Parts: sequence; structure tokens; C-alpha cells
Amino acid sequence: MSKTIYGSLTAGLIFCLAARAADTPGKFLGANSCASSSCHGGGGANQNQFLIWSLKDFHSQRPFATLATARAKQIAVAAGIMDPITDERCTACHTPLRDVPEDLRGSDFRISEGVSCESCHGPAGSWIRSHTRTDYTRAERTAAGMRALENLYVRANACVACHQVVAEPLLKAGHPELIFELDGQSVAEPKHWTVARNGIGPQAWFVGQAVALRETSWELAREKSPSENEMNRWGGLVWLLIRADKVDPDLPKPPDVTFRPNPENFELVQKWSDGLARAAAEISWTNTMTQTALLALSGTAADFREAVPQAVKARRAERLVLALDRLVMSLPQIRRSAPLNGALDRLFSDAQSLPDFKPADFAAHLEEFQKQVQLAAVDNRPARTTHLPWCQTAVRQDRKTIFQ
Ligand code: HEC
Ligand code: HEC
Ligand code: HEC
Repeated sequence: MSKTIYGSLTAGLIFCLAARAADTPGKFLGANSCASSSCHGGGGANQNQFLIWSLKDFHSQRPFATLATARAKQIAVAAGIMDPITDERCTACHTPLRDVPEDLRGSDFRISEGVSCESCHGPAGSWIRSHTRTDYTRAERTAAGMRALENLYVRANACVACHQVVAEPLLKAGHPELIFELDGQSVAEPKHWTVARNGIGPQAWFVGQAVALRETSWELAREKSPSENEMNRWGGLVWLLIRADKVDPDLPKPPDVTFRPNPENFELVQKWSDGLARAAAEISWTNTMTQTALLALSGTAADFREAVPQAVKARRAERLVLALDRLVMSLPQIRRSAPLNGALDRLFSDAQSLPDFKPADFAAHLEEFQKQVQLAAVDNRPARTTHLPWCQTAVRQDRKTIFQ
């Protein structure tokens, strides 16, 4: 796929441009147009999307409000930005509706909605009337510009645009680094959809990591001289996906790359990871695949004893612990093991601070974790098709949020 296509997927241009470039440039109508009580603004199950989003989801209003804080001002000043509330370098993710051109704004449209229905589902102008018709197929909706978010690849693309790559000058100015991990972040988002639509957790994790790698590769291929920090983060993801690639022998094989900052490498990895994400979104994910990934990843202690810089290994660990958490969460029998959970907690605390990361300790703790995985009986029940309910997964939020 060409760079321009990725351009429209990535932060900054996100949805609005993608929509503008498509055949049906629908208008953005605003959340109120979805909110009538007989549609998505009712109180009943499956009609309460507007209420959940507007009352509970941090995407409504908060991202916009964040730009008015002293912290935002501080970041903006350091990045040489006059006004974070109106500058595209901030609004792209925090107030995406601001970047929608006048002629594509409906009458109910309000910029302060933050990350709104249409930021994820697509501009509704071209499908708002027809999408309730029973004879209107999924394919027709998608063609009219409604994003097929039930597909994990499409969903990951929607989220990653705002959740992985922050331009280096903004990071230097103090903006937090972002780590995209589709499964954990989907669990963390207050659900306005039925559990059956979540998709399989480990599959979401895998697709999300491949999409995060594609996005990062695309960014680095455009930069003249990527920083060492960016290279290490990229290397951490490449490492993770190469180690996890035993999941299914039919998935595209990684290219033979070194981790040198070379645009050709970035482009090769970009192509591979995009193909990997697309393919992984289509497979019928099984429990065996989850177990394969868990066993492969927990057996990587040697990679933390390798003669590569500490920072490289710290970035591997950062991605690894998030992966182990998601994989363990979806294997009921393994999840119940208290010693295994203790070992996983230790890995999280080892990986928490990059400067303090001690590869030798981490490697030893990973071996302990691997032993616990092997001890916990392997669960051969058929693949689960849903996430655990949010209340049961909340216990792991403390682990996930340490990086945020
Ligand atoms: C248009 C940009 C945009 C899109 C698209 C988007 N988000 Fe967000 N999201 C944000 C911003 C900005 C914040 C931070 C809000 C704040 O604190 O100001 C956020 C916060 C979050 C948080 C809480 C903070 C964190 O990182 O844990 C989660 C979880 C999250 N988003 C998940 C998702 C998921 C899942 C998707 C895709 C279904 C998604 N987001 C799509 C912009 C976006
Ligand atoms: C690529 C998308 C993206 C861009 C561009 C972006 N942000 Fe953010 N920003 C986020 C997300 C996502 C979060 C939430 C991080 C989390 O909670 O993990 C966030 C968090 C923040 C926070 C809270 C940070 C904290 O330490 O609590 C501030 C303040 C902020 N952004 C300001 C800005 C400003 C100012 C700009 C422009 C200079 C900007 N952002 C550009 C996505 C973005
Ligand atoms: C951060 C991204 C995001 C935002 C913002 C968002 N959605 Fe969703 N929505 C999703 C995802 C992801 C799904 C689940 C995937 C799917 O479509 O099957 C979903 C599912 C839905 C569903 C299907 C529910 C079901 O179980 O059948 C409806 C209806 C819906 N959203 C309406 C809305 C409305 C209305 C708003 C605004 C008030 C909104 N969404 C805001 C991401 C988002």
C-alpha cells in the first residue's frame, strides 16, 4: 500500500481526510443527530450508546477540555505552539471535529464533542437515513462511509490514529508517549456495545500490535533522522511480533531486517505488518493460538541477556508485559494461578521504569513466569468468542495503566 494511504490513516489527518478522500464525502452531523430516544439516546439496552458515551466515555468532552489545561499550555509553549485549542498539531487527536471543513459540518455539529460518534464510526451524512432500513446491507453501509468497526483491522486503524504515534517535537515538549494496545484499551473503554461485538481478546491484541508497528514504521520512514528512542520503541514491536509469529504458520513471514535506521527497513516492515494485521483479523482465532503465543513469549528470557543496549531490552519488556497480561486474561485456567499472577506482577513492576530497567532481573523473573505457565494446567476448552465482562477484567487495570 502506498504511503499516501497510510497518511490518511495516521494521526493528524485521521478520519476527516480519509473521509474526504473517499467517494462519498459525507457530512459530519454531530452526536446529537444520533441521540434521539428512539435511536441511540434511549435508556434501554442497545439504545443507550449516546448516554454511555456522553456520561462515561473519556472520549466525550475530556480530550477537548484537556487542551484548555495548564499542562496543555505548557506542552504547547515548549513546542512553539501559540494556542493548543486551535492548533492542528493538538486538535488532530483531541478535537478532531475542529479540522472538519465548514462545508462538511451539519447544523447540529459542535466542536466541543471531542472524540465523537463520527470520529470512530465515520461521517454520518451519507448513511444516517438509510442505516436503519432492514434491507440495507453491511456492505452498503460500508460503501456509504460507515466504518466496519466489527472487523478488528478496521477497528485498530480507527483507534491507532490517535493512540500510538506522537510527533517527536511534541514528545520533547513533554507530551506523554502513547502505547497502542487494542485489547486492553478496548476493555478500558466504557462499552456502548454488546459484549458479543468485542471480538476475541488475544486476536484484538495481535491485530492491534501489528497495526501499531505499521503505524510506527510509516512514521519513521518519513522522518529524516529518527531518534534512538523512536528506533528502540520500533525495535520492541518488531521483536514482539517476530517472537509471536508462531501463532499461525500461514501468517505472512517477517522480512529479514536489521534494526538499523534505514528507510528501506521501515518500508519493508510497514508492508509486512500491515499484511500481518489484515490476515490476523480474518483468521478464526483459537485457544491453541493464544497458548502458543503465551508459551513462545514467556520463553524469551535469552533475548533479555543478549548483548544489546539496555534501552532496547527495556522496550521489548514494555511490549512483552502488556502481551502476557492480555494472553493470560483470556485463558481461564491459567488466569486462576496465584503464583503466576504474582510472577506477572513482578514483570510489570520490573518494566515500569525504563531508566531503571534491569535486564538480568527481568530475564530471571520471566523464567519464573514461564515455569508458572507450564505448571498451570493447559485449558483446552474451545475458543472463547467474547471478552470477559468489564468488571472481571478491571482487576488488571492497575497493570495496564502504569504506562499511561
Ligand atoms: C480522534 C482521536 C481518537 C480516536 C479515534 C480514539 N481515541 Fe481514545 N482517546 C483519544 C484522546 C485524545 C484521549 C485522551 C483524553 C484525555 O485525557 O484528554 C483518549 C483516551 C482513551 C483512553 C483512556 C486513556 C488511555 O489511553 O487508556 C482509552 C482506553 C481509549 N482512548 C481507547 C480508544 C479506543 C479503544 C479507540 C478505538 C475504538 C479510541 N480510543 C479511538 C483520542 C482518540
Ligand atoms: C496522536 C494523537 C495526539 C496528539 C497529536 C496530541 N495528543 Fe495529547 N494526548 C493524546 C492521548 C491519546 C492522550 C491520553 C494519554 C493517556 O492517558 O494515556 C493525551 C494526553 C494529553 C494530555 C494529558 C497529559 C498528562 O500528562 O496528563 C495533555 C495535557 C495533552 N495530551 C495535550 C496535548 C497538546 C497540547 C497537544 C498538541 C501540542 C497534543 N496533546 C497532541 C493524543 C494526542
Ligand atoms: C472511540 C470510538 C467510538 C466512539 C467515539 C463511538 N463508538 Fe460506537 N462503537 C465503537 C466500537 C469499537 C464498537 C464495537 C464494534 C462494532 O461496531 O461492532 C461500537 C459499536 C457501536 C454500536 C453497535 C452496538 C451493538 O452492540 O450493536 C452502535 C449503535 C454505536 N457504536 C453507536 C455509537 C454512537 C451513537 C456514538 C456516539 C454517541 C458512538 N457509537 C461513539 C467505537 C466508537
